[in-house]
Amino acid sequence: MEILIRDSLEAGAQVAASVVSKIIKSEDKPVLGLATGGTPLRMYHELIRMKQSGELSFQNCTTFNLDEYAGLSREDERSYYFYMMSNLFDLVDIDKNNVHLPDGNAKDLREACRKYEQQIKAAGGIDLQVLGIGANGHIGFNEPTGSFASRTWVKILSEQTMQDNSMYFDKLEEVPRHVVTMGIATIMESRHCLLLANGAKKADAIRKMIEGPISASCPASILQMHPRVTVVLDEEAAYLLTFKDHYKWVEKNKLEWQRY
Ligand code: PGA
Repeated sequence: MEILIRDSLEAGAQVAASVVSKIIKSEDKPVLGLATGGTPLRMYHELIRMKQSGELSFQNCTTFNLDEYAGLSREDERSYYFYMMSNLFDLVDIDKNNVHLPDGNAKDLREACRKYEQQIKAAGGIDLQVLGIGANGHIGFNEPTGSFASRTWVKILSEQTMQDNSMYFDKLEEVPRHVVTMGIATIMESRHCLLLANGAKKADAIRKMIEGPISASCPASILQMHPRVTVVLDEEAAYLLTFKDHYKWVEKNKLEWQRY
C-alpha cells in the first residue's frame, strides 16, 4: 500500500484529485469507481475546479458508484444518485449516459445487481476505485464479517453504520436498512484503489486496515492483498499507525516514477 499522510484536509484533497486526474488523462476511456459520503467532497470540489480551469475533462469518463440505499428515489436528496449529481456530475462535462449507480429502486433488485456487474465488465473493468472507510472498517456498504468473495448485492446495514449515517436523516428510523453495494470481490478487481480517510473517528479502522491481520472483521483489511492501493490520510486518521514514520520516509524517498 502507498500511504500518503497530509497535515490538512485541503492537501489531502489535492493529492487525491491528482491521482484521479492522472488516470483520466492517461486512459482513452477512463473507468472510475466513485464513492459518496462526507470524505470525498473536498476531492470532488478540487476536480470541479480543475475542470473549470480547463485542466481536466470528464468527457470520455465512465463511472460506477459503489453503493446506493434501497428504496430511496433518485430525487430524494439523501440518495447517492442525488449526491453524485449535485456534488459532481451536474458540475462537470461528463456524459450522463456513462454514469452508473446501483439501482436501489429496481423491481427485481437481484437482477439489477447482476446487471451492474455485467455493466462493469462490459466497460472493461474499473481503472480507479475511490473508497471511503466506515468507522467499523466497511468499504462500500460491505459490513464486518461479510464475505470477501461477495459481488454486487443487497446488504443489510449494521446498526453502527445506520447510526453514523443518521446525521443525513431526520431520525435514525428513517435510515434505510437495505442497500445495494458492490461486493468486496468487485472492489478487489479494480486496477487501482484510492482510499480516503480523515479524522480520529477513522483511526482505529485505518490501523486495522493497514497493519492488522486480514480479517472479515475489518473488511477494508483485504486491501492488503490488492496490488495497487493508495491511501490518503490526515494526521488524525493516521495517529494510531505503528509505522507512520516509515510511511512518511517511504514517500520522501520514492523515485519520481514511483509516485502516485
Ligand atoms: P464518510 O463515509 O466519508 O461519510 O465518513 C465513509 C464510509 O462510510 O464509507
